[in-house]
Amino acid sequence: MTPSSSASSTLALVPGKNGHQPTAFPGTGANTEPLRAAPGRPSILDLFAGPGGWTHALNLLGLADLGIEINPDACATRTAAGHATLCVDVAALDPVRFTGTTGLIGSSPCQTFSAAGKLAGLLDLPICRQALDDLAAGTDTRAELREHCHDPRSLLIVEPLRYALALSPQWIAIENVPATLPLLIQIAAILRSRGYQAWTGLINAADHGLPQIRRRALLLAHTHRRPRPPHPTHASDACGPDLFGPGLSVWRSMATALGLPPGLHVRTRGNRSAGAGGNVFSADRPAWALTEKTRSWKLGNLDDPDGWRHLTSAEAATLQGFPPDYAFAGSRTAVFRQIADAVPPPLAVVVLSSLLGLGDAR
Ligand SMILES: C[S@@+](CC[C@H](N)C(=O)[O-])C[C@H]1O[C@@H](n2cnc3c(N)ncnc32)[C@H](O)[C@@H]1O
Repeated sequence: MTPSSSASSTLALVPGKNGHQPTAFPGTGANTEPLRAAPGRPSILDLFAGPGGWTHALNLLGLADLGIEINPDACATRTAAGHATLCVDVAALDPVRFTGTTGLIGSSPCQTFSAAGKLAGLLDLPICRQALDDLAAGTDTRAELREHCHDPRSLLIVEPLRYALALSPQWIAIENVPATLPLLIQIAAILRSRGYQAWTGLINAADHGLPQIRRRALLLAHTHRRPRPPHPTHASDACGPDLFGPGLSVWRSMATALGLPPGLHVRTRGNRSAGAGGNVFSADRPAWALTEKTRSWKLGNLDDPDGWRHLTSAEAATLQGFPPDYAFAGSRTAVFRQIADAVPPPLAVVVLSSLLGLGDAR
């Protein structure tokens, strides 16, 4: 599927899980027709929607979104899960088509900024900063700036601001790898100048009960609520309740989440030997952050060189917080990539609950 595929022909308005209607952008006409929200319905737009980490969380909260996603496998996963999806390039659309959006979510691709990737995005930070300033000033310079990027994907990080400025949604949630935090802080400043209240910072999925050390940068903005990050419920060391709070449980281990016996380890490079940074961690702690290379992870006992096996994609999905019946489409490589790219739904639930004042929905 090419990025220029007709939006109208690929818009799959299928009912969400739990009987929700998907967020309404029921445009069905030509590609230029605005996909307006139906009156009175919440309209949440999810840029770079992947297999549906944010979407599944919204469903758990009784909400639904329209996801925009370019990868055909991720789109197939979303469709199988009943998520409304537009399989096109976020950067190629005019946001005005989504007039009526009240909530905007944006988790742009992180590989270019990620420690697990080649970090070309770090070299592109000044260009991204320029693009954000230009958008704030009302000028779209993405096309010329993209020419100067080490990795053209870097500039996708400005898309949530482009949509936010065009649509003025009531609330915005942006998530990405920690290296992007300076850009999220810049976006927050621009949003504050437009009347939003905004919070930026880092959160760790393990602090919210996920069996995975996954640190992420977050921007939360709202037009009439003061956004706050969710309260941690877990920590590396448990602590009991005191005057200041109900206490924290100890981080959930990978072995507990997967029902494995104690004493196992993970080799992140399969059978290959450890490099300088090491490649072995204990399954009795939270897993290291999942990446697309998690397909090479092997589980076993350090005393039994022959007893090692690959982590299954179902186990990876569990570590990412997806329910067992969530079906990922595509090859083994494609499935691991989608799982690793996803926002863990339980983390998205607590983030959205906190942003929207829905209480603790876990
Ligand atoms: C970090 S993942 C998003 C995870 C997702 N938001 C979730 O909640 O599970 C980034 C996604 O952006 C998609 N993507 C990359 N470039 C895109 C583009 N130009 N337009 C739309 N989607 C794109 C990738 O295929 C990938 O699924």
